[in-house]
Amino acid sequence: MPWHVKEEFEHFKKTTLGSAIIMGRKTFETLGKPLKDRENIIVTRYINYSSQFEDVKVFHSLDDSLVYCMQKNYDKVFIIGGGEIFKQALPLSDEMILSFMKFDAEGEILFPEIEEDKWEKKSSEDREQFEIVRYVRKNGKPN
Ligand SMILES: NC(=O)c1ccc[n+]([C@@H]2O[C@H](COP(=O)([O-])OP(=O)(O)OC[C@H]3O[C@@H](n4cnc5c(N)ncnc54)[C@H](OP(=O)(O)O)[C@@H]3O)[C@@H](O)[C@H]2O)c1
Repeated sequence: MPWHVKEEFEHFKKTTLGSAIIMGRKTFETLGKPLKDRENIIVTRYINYSSQFEDVKVFHSLDDSLVYCMQKNYDKVFIIGGGEIFKQALPLSDEMILSFMKFDAEGEILFPEIEEDKWEKKSSEDREQFEIVRYVRKNGKPN
């Protein structure tokens, strides 16, 4: 991540604690270790991928990871990135909680463009360095 904003990490932690978090293999590798008190789920196309951490689940498709979460009856499942996974998961999602940083940063990986006609802005919270916006899908059902 091209920035380090403690308050945003705290918001992310508070939001995702106790839930399942699904991420691409590259994002997991940038984290370096599973995030505590959440079920860490990695998606990779490498069939032989194995993690040194026992408490992570590995799936070879996004669909398989979502089926697993449904079977475990998670109330909420968070897609936490990166760009490739956000792009594929967005059409399947019914809600987005986004932090808009109030400064410019260098980077190559972007969040997908938000199709304003599909999402309704439900709330926003202003923080010193970022704004938290909650969007809900307009027709209530993912594609
Ligand atoms: N600012 C933020 O909030 C934020 C959040 C998250 C991540 N990030 C940053 O984003 C960067 C990583 O993003 P990224 O787009 O390069 O990678 P990514 O989405 O984290 O991971 C991509 C990898 O996920 C696997 N994958 C993707 N689609 C798949 C599918 N349908 N089935 C199975 N596996 C699939 C593949 O792994 P294999 O190559 O192993 O097959 C692919 O290379 C990092 O720098 C991270 O720090 C930023």
